[in-house]
Amino acid sequence: MRDTWLVSGGAGYIGAHVVRSLQAAGADAVVIDDLSTGDIGRVQVPFVEGDIADWRLVADTMRQYRITGVVHLAADKQVEESMREPLTYYRRNVVNLMQLLTAMAHAEVGRLVFSSSAAVYGMVDSPLVGEDHPTRPINPYGETKLIGEWLIRDQARATGLRFAALRYFNVAGTASPELADLGRTNLIPMVFDALDRGDQPVIFGGQHPTPDGTCVRDFIHVQDLADAHVAAIAALDEPGASHVFNVGCGRGYSVREVIEMVAEVSGRSIEPRVGAARPGDPAMVVADTARISRTLGWHPRHDLREMVRSAWHAQPRQVSASRG
Ligand code: UFG
Repeated sequence: MRDTWLVSGGAGYIGAHVVRSLQAAGADAVVIDDLSTGDIGRVQVPFVEGDIADWRLVADTMRQYRITGVVHLAADKQVEESMREPLTYYRRNVVNLMQLLTAMAHAEVGRLVFSSSAAVYGMVDSPLVGEDHPTRPINPYGETKLIGEWLIRDQARATGLRFAALRYFNVAGTASPELADLGRTNLIPMVFDALDRGDQPVIFGGQHPTPDGTCVRDFIHVQDLADAHVAAIAALDEPGASHVFNVGCGRGYSVREVIEMVAEVSGRSIEPRVGAARPGDPAMVVADTARISRTLGWHPRHDLREMVRSAWHAQPRQVSASRG
């Protein structure tokens, strides 16, 4: 029998890529999404519109489609918003995960891939951050992801649930224009938006303790990230599987280097302005990817140029048309 995965948040940017990767690997997918930020236009598999908080709906969906495992991405993910609305984040990222685990227990679904985040690390004190680095999140978003990992780990100990928690680093790019990121809150889309407005992109802080003074991040192409979910699923065949993996490239790019890449790809000349540092931004967060490459044989295949190129060409047509 083919596996059928329930993808919560499958109408979102990352979730839609995960659905495609699952299908490419020969599995079936069913999407559940409340469409709070997702786009129904991305969904081409059986779809349930609903909230994970409704565990009876989720359990019924699992039984109806004979779900064999869950990829759980439905969550809120904006750091600044989480500082302003912590209760929303605890409700949607923690309480809803409890509801999902309740539904899984009722429907006897025993495999879970969880969308975690590098935000669980907070301020890091080494050039490469491995999974055993202390987790000291510095905002409610990161806290809710870490609590999510604990919840899943404890439920796994109690019930034999098999899981993999994937700590995403900075996700960018798109596999095809219709799956592009519609959010405008991360560096690359914000640089695009500044160009569209004819403004200078702003670098948040030029005095960080990094080679060029701007923050350094580890960018991962969303297609590689989606494929990491499929690789992680393969590792859940083993009884007792309980994994935590960083998903990044293991190479850092500074904010200034990313902006230079946007200039190259777009053919625009860009002169960024250095503004104040954004509170709570760690100077440098780069993944140690040894564990995922050793355990799953997973390696990223796309570089920063491809991330920026694919995202740039997926911009809405009327905006592209006005570009030189
Ligand atoms: N930045 C700028 N100018 C901008 C936008 C961003 O200089 O206009 C800088 C930020 O200060 C940061 C870097 O670009 O140094 C990346 O910023 P993003 O907002 O794109 O991403 P973050 O690294 O802050 O956060 C991302 C995800 C989070 C996740 C985190 C994990 O957005 O959800 O990675 O490390 F928690």
